[in-house]
Amino acid sequence: MSDQNVQNGLTAWPSGPLRGEARVPGDKSISHRALILGALSVGETVISGLLESGDVQHTGRAMRAFGAAVERGRDGRWHVHGVGTGGFAEPDDVIDCGNSGTGVRLIMGAAATQPITATYTGDRSLRSRPMARVTEPLARFGAHAVGRAGGRLPLTLVGANDPLPIAFESPHPSAQVKSAVLLAGLSAPGRTHVIEAVATRDHTERMFRGFGAEVTTSEKADGREITVVGQPELTGQAITVPRDPSSAAFPVCAALITEGSDIVVPGVSRNPTRTGLYETLLDMGADLTFSRERVTGGEPVADLRVRSSRLSGVDVPPDRAPSMIDEYPILAVVAAFAEGRTTFRGIGELRVKESDRIDATARGLEANGVTVEEGRDWLVVDGRGGDGVPGGGTVAARLDHRIAMAFLCLGLASRAPVSVDDARVIDTSFPGFAALMSQLGARLAGNNDGTGAAGD
Ligand code: S3P
Repeated sequence: MSDQNVQNGLTAWPSGPLRGEARVPGDKSISHRALILGALSVGETVISGLLESGDVQHTGRAMRAFGAAVERGRDGRWHVHGVGTGGFAEPDDVIDCGNSGTGVRLIMGAAATQPITATYTGDRSLRSRPMARVTEPLARFGAHAVGRAGGRLPLTLVGANDPLPIAFESPHPSAQVKSAVLLAGLSAPGRTHVIEAVATRDHTERMFRGFGAEVTTSEKADGREITVVGQPELTGQAITVPRDPSSAAFPVCAALITEGSDIVVPGVSRNPTRTGLYETLLDMGADLTFSRERVTGGEPVADLRVRSSRLSGVDVPPDRAPSMIDEYPILAVVAAFAEGRTTFRGIGELRVKESDRIDATARGLEANGVTVEEGRDWLVVDGRGGDGVPGGGTVAARLDHRIAMAFLCLGLASRAPVSVDDARVIDTSFPGFAALMSQLGARLAGNNDGTGAAGD
């Protein structure tokens, strides 16, 4: 490992109980969409609780490049002055989306039905991810994409001059793909339809309605059909971003496996298209209590109390995958502490995330003394139950924020400390992760100071 990597790494030490309130940051999916829809609206959008992470900052800069005004107020709220549906200006430089698959796919969707050309790129992880899943449906609107082999970034997308609406049956259980098509449908005339076999997160549909677009969702024999009427007049909105259930997953799961813990996550999203992890944890015997259920900014939220629990392995149903797609690495960590086996099936999409998350999770668990088996789209974790997890491994983060955070959580409850080689990538979705976990009682330290002292 190079000196630089040692410096950028983080080690989690076996920790005492986690206690207190975990105020996790705003939802990443909703934050991207708020900036993009604000940019496509007329008038001002004011966003409270925007996730100020690397991914979302890239989307904010991209919206500026397309002509919107995007500013952070002194009170922490973000103000977007949009250009209206179809009003994007041609950017005068390459759009860099950093680490964000959501950012680049949604932005390409929004730009595909506008008469402008833009070139997109990102970091090494993003440049390795498949983009044909969005450029193929976008071509049906009349857009034209030229990228590297396999449709990879950097990629230039020439927007359609006279876009045509489409009916698209999505072959991927992906909210990014669905949302790219719906965003393209906004600047096309007529009705655009997307049919998804399994329901994926519905923040785009909810937010379209909030901004004044006509969207309908109906259950069909072959899945869920979403229809948007193109070329609406979108009007700027006030948006409150709920806390991200995918970020909450880390303190929640760390508390479950760290004995004596008792924490509360206030205001976490309860959107039913995002709650698969919480259902699975309840199946495993987790002590979770939701209270003060309410609606914030069109999204259901609640306060969540978590107490450490004795857990049992379960079979996670494959049709639950879209509602917990980002939570598998941390759930696999929890499964390592459970009594018995946990089986994850139907998780092939994990192979094309920020890293190959089946492989990264399996190798990370093995490095810490946990037995796993894996296949193309499945993973089995042999829980160690009362024997405890040995730990002591160093895990490669592979430019994947969720891999880095999942294995730091493992280190809090294993017998020996666990290191992650490069923790900077955590800023992609969860700035302040180490500080928040330390406040709760986690012992995290830079890999080169070795004291086990709390710190960010
Ligand atoms: C997201 C959708 C998911 C998820 C990602 C955010 C979104 O990806 O992994 O972190 O905001 O639409 P897929 O829909 O491609 O599975």
